[in-house]
Amino acid sequence: MSKYFLLLTLTSCALVSPLKQSSVVKGKSRTDYESYAKNFMISTQGVGTTKAAKYAIDRGGNIFDAAIAASFAISVERPHSTGIGGGGFMMIDHVESKTKTAFDFREMAPQRAHSKMFLNEDGTQDTDRSLTGGLASGVPGLVAGLVEVHKKYGSLPFGDLVKPAIDLARKGFKIYPGLAKALEAEKDRLCKFESSKKIFLNEDCSPKKEGEVLIQEDLAKTLELIASDKNQSFYFGKLAKKIANSQAMHGGLITTEDMAQYVVKERKPIEGTYRGYKIVSMPPPSSGGTHIIQILNILENADLRSMGPQSSQAIHLTSSAMQMAFADRAEYMGDNDYSVVPLRTLTSKQYAKVLYNKINPDLALESKDFPIPFNKIFLKEPDHTTHFTIMDSKGNIVSSTQTINGWFGSAVVAEGTGIVMNNEMDDFASHIGGVNLFGAIGGKNNLVHPKKRPLSSMSPTMVYTEKGKPLMALGTPSGTRILTCVMQTILNVLEYDMELWDAVSATRYHHQWYPEYIRVGDPGFEPYVEKQLKELGHKIVRKNLGCSIQAIKLESDGKLHGVSDPRGEGLSLGF
Ligand code: GLY
Repeated sequence: MSKYFLLLTLTSCALVSPLKQSSVVKGKSRTDYESYAKNFMISTQGVGTTKAAKYAIDRGGNIFDAAIAASFAISVERPHSTGIGGGGFMMIDHVESKTKTAFDFREMAPQRAHSKMFLNEDGTQDTDRSLTGGLASGVPGLVAGLVEVHKKYGSLPFGDLVKPAIDLARKGFKIYPGLAKALEAEKDRLCKFESSKKIFLNEDCSPKKEGEVLIQEDLAKTLELIASDKNQSFYFGKLAKKIANSQAMHGGLITTEDMAQYVVKERKPIEGTYRGYKIVSMPPPSSGGTHIIQILNILENADLRSMGPQSSQAIHLTSSAMQMAFADRAEYMGDNDYSVVPLRTLTSKQYAKVLYNKINPDLALESKDFPIPFNKIFLKEPDHTTHFTIMDSKGNIVSSTQTINGWFGSAVVAEGTGIVMNNEMDDFASHIGGVNLFGAIGGKNNLVHPKKRPLSSMSPTMVYTEKGKPLMALGTPSGTRILTCVMQTILNVLEYDMELWDAVSATRYHHQWYPEYIRVGDPGFEPYVEKQLKELGHKIVRKNLGCSIQAIKLESDGKLHGVSDPRGEGLSLGF
């Protein structure tokens, strides 16, 4: 340990302060976000969604039925974040069949997509086209994914599980602050498309305001069709035609053939360990699980616990590990059905040790320090979005992150359907070194290709004890911050022994290599910690991360403990 580092340790020990934590949203209290129960626990980002999941269980359904009901309901309740015009991932632990599996219903690039489609003639990136309008959308996968999950694990009739969403769309709900903020921010994009304006804006294109009731009648009718024929109309019939017509009208590429060719992939989860605990998370096309494991592997080499969770030393080490993971994300990650992603190396303890040894305790890493080549030890390789977690006392788990990418996706509602189409094509790299909406850099493995899936950061995750007993399941929205928010919450529980509420509400930070700064959310770091980090060469930017962790932990007394992030508008409900 260097002298300076020792000095920092002593200084911070002398100034140990209580954990800095986010307060709950104004007008709410901790009990709105936290629950303990014996049998079932549901943590979602929407009150109507949590109730929809409970509706399924109250009718004798299992947690997989509840997850399907929640997915349809959240599509209605958070139309700016997710929807049936988008896709997602679902991690499942099904106790009866001893199966831990990952459903990938991420959007697919249409057949006519190509690697230059988001470049101007001079080779520069055209983010307008990848973010707004027809070209921005990939073929939606959510409906197919839910049908597949139902086929394998559901117990109630599929149509019954869509009912709460139909009611929510038809009767409407009051616009809450998060939705009002998204409507205000995206009103100009929504105003460009009559079909979107009709639902979300007033005649003069001003947004509907907080407290007004949002009714989505076209979406209710679409959901009724899905309730009656599952994926038939959506992928092979009337709805597929409407989506293709809308795409043609707005310069998009998705055809009825693309809709018919959508496939759900069931994947083997990516696994790692942290101090003996087992981490089971989402493999590519998500970067999430891989880099959560990589960052934890790097940090396992340090004694973070004795440094303290919000000490400058712990933040410096953790941020440096995040930087390294994001440099690798840019270089290697993509849909590994289309390119070789070195997953074994990225998640190996051996490579993590090499990276850990490159961290200078006295100095922040700079861009010139990258890339850190790992070819010497190369192993043979085989405030967007939403998340919910559901668990039962038997140990069944669903952890699912779903999205249409940016707020209101492409801003296009497919005419006559109420479906907000995603802008997931922006998650591809427009060229090597291109950046997406979240500032993440993309490489060769993430270039656009027909039928390929864009790289994601969504990280639905499950954590187990050394003996394989479920300990926790969690996830969050918010682009590239997803994986660092999930990783920090795991670290807070496993390394710092925080109880779940503290782990979720503690100040969070994020470093993604580029831009070169530590982004810290409210209520920030202690001033002396920030000063020490600056002395190590870190730039600090105060900006909320947008994460909204939805977590459930099986406590040692056998109770399920649910926490919905106090920064959001969710609800944890146990019974
Ligand atoms: N669209 C955000 C993500 O998949 O990471």
